[in-house]
Amino acid sequence: MATPALVIDEAVVRRNIGRMAAYAAEHGLALRPHAKTHKSLRMARLQLSAGAVGLAAAKVGEAETLAEACDDLLIAYPAVDEPRCRRIAELAREKTIRVAVDSAFAADALATAAREAGSTVGVLVEVDVGFRRTGVQSPQAALALARHLDRTRGVRLDGIMCFPGHVTGPADEQDLSPVAEMLAETLELWSAGGLAAGIVSGGSTPTAYQSHRIPALTEIRPGTYIYNDMNTVAGGHCGVEDCAVRVACTVVSDAVPGKVVIDAGSKALGSDPARTADGGFGRVVEYPEARLVRLSEEHGEVGVTGCERRPALGERVHVIPNHICPCVNLYDQAWLRREDGQWEPMPVDARGRLS
Ligand SMILES: Cc1ncc(COP(=O)(O)O)c(C=O)c1O
Repeated sequence: MATPALVIDEAVVRRNIGRMAAYAAEHGLALRPHAKTHKSLRMARLQLSAGAVGLAAAKVGEAETLAEACDDLLIAYPAVDEPRCRRIAELAREKTIRVAVDSAFAADALATAAREAGSTVGVLVEVDVGFRRTGVQSPQAALALARHLDRTRGVRLDGIMCFPGHVTGPADEQDLSPVAEMLAETLELWSAGGLAAGIVSGGSTPTAYQSHRIPALTEIRPGTYIYNDMNTVAGGHCGVEDCAVRVACTVVSDAVPGKVVIDAGSKALGSDPARTADGGFGRVVEYPEARLVRLSEEHGEVGVTGCERRPALGERVHVIPNHICPCVNLYDQAWLRREDGQWEPMPVDARGRLS
């Protein structure tokens, strides 16, 4: 196999999928994995056959690709512009499509597109529970938007969505009560106003196994859990052995003292910083004492002064990136190590579908 290459261990993937599916089933939560992590029809089918009710996507292009494997998709991302809304409305002619909205502007744009396409788009009102990225800012604002959606032809008010992306620490340090309170208050207001939220969708990988502490939730949307990465390890949410994806690299230079260079830089690993001070740009699996200290586009500089034995020129090593989702999006094709030990090429079907 030519390097750098994305290699995926199917046994670990299946274990990760199974663990999350069992948790969701135990707590009566619907599981809607966010497919932006894998962007793969094969992985989507594994999740669906393990009990996922559907998938989440960020971009319409991802949803269009995933629709080949899935009839029930949530676009957990704002849609306000005409081309995007038109594609969503087209998709909704054949599939159950929901979109998270946080403005009347988005609601109206979607509704117009849906009426023109002769379809109905389900909508979830996104509530900001603390991440401060998107979402209406109060339960009262959620009620006002819900009332607007309820009156608008072309869209169907299905519930609420939130994303607690600000909660990344270890499970026993997570304070999810503000999230629980905001959702409970929103539901109370809706119910007093005669509106129902059939779906309350939340969840990220760091908070996924704590979702039962947020009673309002009916559904969770973790994405990273299928593969995991060094940030998930740093948060205490999994072990290195639960990381299913590595970038296979070759040592291409040892000319500069104290370091070796691998053939994977930011174009092969992504360049997300580590969540821990000493984390570097990922973990070199065979040399845990090594530090991936600097990336250029095609070079990864690995400090090896802490290593008893140093990687040799030409040696194959494997890196677990800090953030697996943007890393996967760098590859048209991954190599899957099946459970029978055979290697199989696997397309990253929705790779680069960013619009
Ligand atoms: C809206 C939304 N939902 C769910 C997820 C999945 O979270 P995680 O990557 O922690 O699994 C993300 C991730 O970015 C997201 O933006």
